[in-house]
Amino acid sequence: MKQQLAREAFAAKDASDPLREYRNAFVIPEGTIYLDGNSLGMLPHACAARARQVVEEEWGRTLISSWNEHGWIDLPLRIGGKIAPLIGADADEVVVCDSVSVNLFKVLASAVALRPGRRVIVTNDDNFPTDVYIAEGLCGLLGPDYELRFASPANVERALERDVVAVSFSHVDYKTARIEDMAAITTKVQAAGALAIWDLSHSVGALPVDLNNACADFAVGCGYKYLNGGPGAPAFLFAARRHHADMRQPLSGWLGHAAPFAFGRRYAPATGIARMITGTPPVVSMALLESAVGIVAEAGIERLRAKSKEMTTLLIELVARECPGLELASPSDANRRGSHVIFAHPEGYAIVQALKARGVIGDFRAPHFVRLGIAPLYLSYVELWDAVGRLKQVMDAREWDQERFRVRAAVT
Ligand SMILES: Cc1ncc(COP(=O)(O)O)c(C=O)c1O
Repeated sequence: MKQQLAREAFAAKDASDPLREYRNAFVIPEGTIYLDGNSLGMLPHACAARARQVVEEEWGRTLISSWNEHGWIDLPLRIGGKIAPLIGADADEVVVCDSVSVNLFKVLASAVALRPGRRVIVTNDDNFPTDVYIAEGLCGLLGPDYELRFASPANVERALERDVVAVSFSHVDYKTARIEDMAAITTKVQAAGALAIWDLSHSVGALPVDLNNACADFAVGCGYKYLNGGPGAPAFLFAARRHHADMRQPLSGWLGHAAPFAFGRRYAPATGIARMITGTPPVVSMALLESAVGIVAEAGIERLRAKSKEMTTLLIELVARECPGLELASPSDANRRGSHVIFAHPEGYAIVQALKARGVIGDFRAPHFVRLGIAPLYLSYVELWDAVGRLKQVMDAREWDQERFRVRAAVT
């Protein structure tokens, strides 16, 4: 009875949730509670409709003329302009293209060119692996004089010698969900003459980001998580306007040229952010991302953040009460936490699989973390309540303790 009353309290929260209507904008599979944390947002109905339109009408009927008639050629800058307000940038400072990894390469290489004579890139060694690997790859390409130096965001000043080109951190940590103080770190980095680069993959669409207020130099981020742009959605790249005239990136493809259709024999960069474009945009993926970004923008990032903070707090409280074997490994202060929560348990992998067998989708992050994400656009309070109820069953009955739940899949 007590449990029933508590569940009803969660249902009451749903009834007064100002974002409740947005759930209807998504395809929600029957019986699934989606707490993926957050590697792939759910499918908006608008994206399914847009996919049909762009494939059947624009590609199918208008064919090559669609580059002009349907504005395909403008997609990178147009969607960049729509993402800009979500990250505290101006519309002409953001472009959508390539993947986070490729964009980070372009941004790091641009930073090297903007800081001649400096030869060190700083990142944290527990940053998302691609952020480390791409910096390693660039240093390898530039030669033995270039080096990667590791420092934690909390102690970045220790790494800030006069030889540092740039510091590259994630704004929200992909494992712990810890939020870095973007403005304070950027100030320290720039005081040492270096450039501040931010990966916003776990921030964009989940919490307000204010790049220009923090005076950030460059940023990258993905379209497939809280922006719900679909699997493999293109990424975005931000460059502060003060760098536009001087920045040079090495993937100098024809669509970043000042006059691509002049087919000139030598590269001349486009003015502004467009010079960060390399090649032909993936039009179908771009079109889906454009539809999805509109939903986030309409819902409003402040309202999304308020619901996300409340939900991650409730999740932590419920898990502490119902599943004491799971140890919180995210910040306990909601203001220091992004939109996911991780819990440590030696059998984290098997727990995530057993939970999935009960219809709750979370994800596992090595070595032993259960990562549960809150996407406030479509997650209901009752789902949150029910998810923890199922997690409790998995833990209390040791449902995870079966060989089938220990078999590692290629994607975790
Ligand atoms: C912080 C961060 N950066 C980058 C990536 C992935 O980059 P890419 O889109 O190039 O695969 C992820 C993926 O989860 C991520 O969490």
